[in-house]
Amino acid sequence: MQKILIDGGGTLRGTVKVSGAKNSCLPVLMTTILAEGEHRIRNTPDLVDVRTTCKLLEGLGAEVSMARGTVRVAHNGLSSHEAPYDLVKTMRASVVCLGPLVGRYGRARVSLPGGCAIGARPIDQHLKGLEKLGAKVSLSHGYVEVTAKRLRGNRIVLDQPTVTGTENLLMAAVLAKGETEIRNAAREPEVLQVAEVLNQMGAKIEGAGTQSIWIQGVDSLAPARCTVIPDRIEVGTLMVASVMTGGKVLLRGARADHQTALIEKLTEAGAIITVHEEGIHIRAPGRPKPVDLTTQPYPGFPTDMQAQFMALMAVADGTSIISEHIFENRFMHVSELNRMGAKIKFEGARAVVQGVRHLSGAQVMATDLRASASLVLAGLIARGRTEIYRIYHLDRGYQRLDKKLRKLGAHIRRSQAQPPTTVT
Ligand code: EPU
Repeated sequence: MQKILIDGGGTLRGTVKVSGAKNSCLPVLMTTILAEGEHRIRNTPDLVDVRTTCKLLEGLGAEVSMARGTVRVAHNGLSSHEAPYDLVKTMRASVVCLGPLVGRYGRARVSLPGGCAIGARPIDQHLKGLEKLGAKVSLSHGYVEVTAKRLRGNRIVLDQPTVTGTENLLMAAVLAKGETEIRNAAREPEVLQVAEVLNQMGAKIEGAGTQSIWIQGVDSLAPARCTVIPDRIEVGTLMVASVMTGGKVLLRGARADHQTALIEKLTEAGAIITVHEEGIHIRAPGRPKPVDLTTQPYPGFPTDMQAQFMALMAVADGTSIISEHIFENRFMHVSELNRMGAKIKFEGARAVVQGVRHLSGAQVMATDLRASASLVLAGLIARGRTEIYRIYHLDRGYQRLDKKLRKLGAHIRRSQAQPPTTVT
């Protein structure tokens, strides 16, 4: 078990190259279920969740190897159609194998993901959509079982846009008979990438990236060859880090068109952001101004950046209100930020953040992936030393964030640690 140690106070300066997007890479790896042959996925981030997905594919019968950022997946038909509890309990996104398994093999048995630190996170929309395509869905012994002879295209209207739900249904519908329409689809860049990869494999999808997606089913697909898009949440986290420390940073490979909502909010907070061919440059001349925000599905402000933006607002020159509209329990970082001297109060689904001039280093506990990132950001500017425990959450979704920050001048390192015992 490791902890992160940060001695706060430095200013971030320099250039850092952005990694591939976790939330794109995971569903893109699942597209390999849909076609026999050898698939190559480039620019894959080296993350715990990516390795878990590779294990899942191996468990299904594929040969998987990873070298220098390229994952090679090869199979001549999968021998299993089951995602077991041991894998799903460590990574909810395992559920994204449901759609491709039932679309290609007519059978899938996947451990039902439970709730997690940030909310209940049901998968009813995934299952409702698969039923609309003609699948039979049953639940037993903690597993969801989906069967179908061949799926049949239909119109699916989602109750709310769901990212992995849309990806699952896209992957189910590409081999279905006839046309499928997904209405109220998620529009995230990661969904668009999944559709583009599927089209490159021979699928016929139109409208991805908008609220209505049309899929004309085909009989078979060719192996995937693709490059994972840059991670917009890693980019956002590093943008906030440079604003908090009053730094000047170039994020090489970052795509500004994926960051519109964040760029708008950071600009309101006083950051000066310029977009170059090679990436995004960001600097911040002084203490951030307070900014209110509400998380929304893309292209709105991402829930995956809420905790990090709250760390920024914790030291803003005034009071801001941050409302969380996607996940009901995504404020676990608040009490830890308060232990570092922040003044944040909950009011239902919103947090009132009264900016303070300084935070102070403390021992804090990470509770989920993005909450861990917010504690790292707070540690960068806190007076004294911050020790962050349970950083395995961070390693699930950031490829060596500490190394990237160190390259930019932060005093951050890892050391071995026993986590402090928690009291219930
Ligand atoms: N929802 C339902 N029923 C469903 C599906 C979703 O009620 O069947 C609800 C959820 O409970 C939530 C909302 O719909 O309130 C949106 O959830 P969504 O399904 O879009 O989330 P997800 O697909 O499970 C992905 C990302 C999350 C990110 C969310 C929102 C992946 C692997 N995960 O999750 O990423 O927060 O979209 O953008 O793509 C992270 O990277 O830290 C992370 C949690």
